[in-house]
Amino acid sequence: MTPTPTDCPTMLTDTENDSTNPEFGHILSERLSRRDMLKGSFGAAATLYFGSSSLLLSASGETRAATGALKLNFAAVNKTLDDKVTLAQGYSYRIISSTGDPLAEGIPAYSNNGSERAESFNKRVGDHHDGMHFFGLGKNGLWSPLASDRGLLCVNHESITAGFLHPTGATIVDEKRPNDNEVLKEMLAIGMSIAEVKKVGQSYTLIQNSRFNRRITSMTDMEITGPAARSPLMITKYSVTGTRTRGTIGNCANGHTPWGTYLTCEENWAYFFRRPAADDSKRSARELASLKRYGVKGNSLSLWATVQPDTADNRFGRWDASINGTSSDGSDDYRNGPNTFGWVVEIDPFNPDSTPKKRTALGRFAHEGAWPGLVIAGQPLVWYMGCDSRHEYIYKYVSNAVWDPADAKRGAAAGDKYLNDGTLYVARFNADGSGDWLELTYGRNGIDRDNSYYSFSDQADVLINARLAADARGATKMDRPEWGAVNPKNGEVYMTLTYNPSRALDKVDAANPRFYNDPKKGVAQKGNANGHIIRWAEHDAKGSATKFQWDVFLFAARSSADPVNVNISGLTADNDFSSPDGLWFARSGLLWVETDDHAYTDASNCMLLAAIPGKVGDGSTKSIVNSDNGQQSTATTHVGAAPREDSLRRFLVGPVDCEITGLAETPDGRALFVNIQHPGETTTGKNFNIADPSTYLSHWPQGGTARPRSSTIVITRDDGGPIGADLT
Ligand code: FEO
Ligand code: CA
Ligand code: CA
Ligand code: CA
Repeated sequence: MTPTPTDCPTMLTDTENDSTNPEFGHILSERLSRRDMLKGSFGAAATLYFGSSSLLLSASGETRAATGALKLNFAAVNKTLDDKVTLAQGYSYRIISSTGDPLAEGIPAYSNNGSERAESFNKRVGDHHDGMHFFGLGKNGLWSPLASDRGLLCVNHESITAGFLHPTGATIVDEKRPNDNEVLKEMLAIGMSIAEVKKVGQSYTLIQNSRFNRRITSMTDMEITGPAARSPLMITKYSVTGTRTRGTIGNCANGHTPWGTYLTCEENWAYFFRRPAADDSKRSARELASLKRYGVKGNSLSLWATVQPDTADNRFGRWDASINGTSSDGSDDYRNGPNTFGWVVEIDPFNPDSTPKKRTALGRFAHEGAWPGLVIAGQPLVWYMGCDSRHEYIYKYVSNAVWDPADAKRGAAAGDKYLNDGTLYVARFNADGSGDWLELTYGRNGIDRDNSYYSFSDQADVLINARLAADARGATKMDRPEWGAVNPKNGEVYMTLTYNPSRALDKVDAANPRFYNDPKKGVAQKGNANGHIIRWAEHDAKGSATKFQWDVFLFAARSSADPVNVNISGLTADNDFSSPDGLWFARSGLLWVETDDHAYTDASNCMLLAAIPGKVGDGSTKSIVNSDNGQQSTATTHVGAAPREDSLRRFLVGPVDCEITGLAETPDGRALFVNIQHPGETTTGKNFNIADPSTYLSHWPQGGTARPRSSTIVITRDDGGPIGADLT
């Protein structure tokens, strides 16, 4: 059992979807014409807002895609195990901020020896930088969508590396945390940060004394909004009305809105909670079904709740999700605490005093991120979302209100209109290349009290238990959905399926078709060890469509792998990769792909690649033969056109044992912000000795004998040109 929260790779097995969702026997063969699916037009192009790229061409919210053909403007970098950032020639980077850097005037530089008191992290950059977004900042202090020289950089802090955060690592005695300062520091080092950045010369720098700088942590007061607010399932001692909660945790990827607010998404929140096994006997069958499905299983022994004595505000005890009080409704304990996490949270970066809002209409699961579809006047707004655990699902949210460009200037006030009232869907990928968005609404399609998976009581219950509703609808179990991105040129949606060692030989399907062995240093790695990137085109190019057409954009693999059944996309030494995670479409239409890899790290540290994508349906249908110990299975899938040397190249390789994640672009496309998360992450294994720096696997970015630190870097081209590709 991990004593403190760590991040996805070590946590995911506990939330593996072991539901009896019938998807494997449920693949439809609806014959939808691919031509029909793709013929949708963009006649309304003049009123598009390209959500992925944040490019607004006018203050009225009307936008246009960049036009012209793309040409990669760099030579591929080689795979490397060097403990540094290796970047394409002709490009440079500098560090914007690292874990612990000061975010206010008068805060001293970070010692990087763990000596700071916990409270100082209220004014310091958090740990494990993840999802990120750049909002242009105007002279009037408001959002200026075209501003590139000055902006607010919103950065998620997903988790912590406790070994490097404290003087001598995390103190654990008899499976308890006796040091309250250590635990509080961990609680304040997660969440997210907002910092002003400014262009200085060719590059950017953080403004330490900006009035906009802010930390949001697991201690920050938040409002619960949307259909699940005031539900009995949301009642805690902190908010007996079920309308508030404290903090945001597991902030993985992100999203944004066309009114200039940031969305931070709660992924591995379940592991922060303690729930001793004895609590099971106090729970109803429905409660147990919900707790199990979300990984707050009996015997979840996270240690934050073990600090004694607790404070008057229960800052430690609130992480104990068992029934400790005598009330019948949970108003005197935190039995419902986990229900207040697992949401998309909206934050107004332009108002440092604003209260973040949890947007329950978008459903509760292990949210990776929330990526906006194209924004078109008069049409609903759409956000695409992945639930990142093995065999979990892809979702989308469609607002009931249609987009009014006048709302682009309303700032956070627009949030209630579009994010509290809409429809949640989950995806089913059919064998013939079509797909269906399955509605998750109480009272429809059997989502009601009589459902055999779970007896739903109302829409709040459906949203709080969205995974159970998705099970009941027969959604497709995917190979761990991570980031999504929407192509600003045509609205097609790309989503990484990072990898899935639990994909069984006899449980492959069209959209998750591979089972293979990818041995690493002689050790077998079976299942879908390298992941793939799926993409889809909505019917009639409408984000609100309930049908779509899909194919696999890229299958990740070693370039040396079997070219027929494993390296299906024909990757070469210049562009092979494993475990795609972060995605970002530049406004030019260039697609960036980041990796969070564990399977190919014998050959390279994690990396960033640039791709010029085609479109859904530009490839072919293929039969894949999977085998293991003399057993075989086949899957027929749909794969996009293979990448060429000039359409997919490695751009950057990070330092040892990091994850490359988070991507933000200035509106002019001439600066790219990238996060280097937890270099030296697995240092804290059994050979780790904090007193012996030679046991650290990385010393990046400071080098020498320093402890490694998560960091945001900004990349610029030495001649000041656009990053990654030129428009010709
Ligand atoms: Fe936090 Fe799924 O990456
Ligand atoms: Ca990570
Ligand atoms: Ca991720
Ligand atoms: Ca990952």
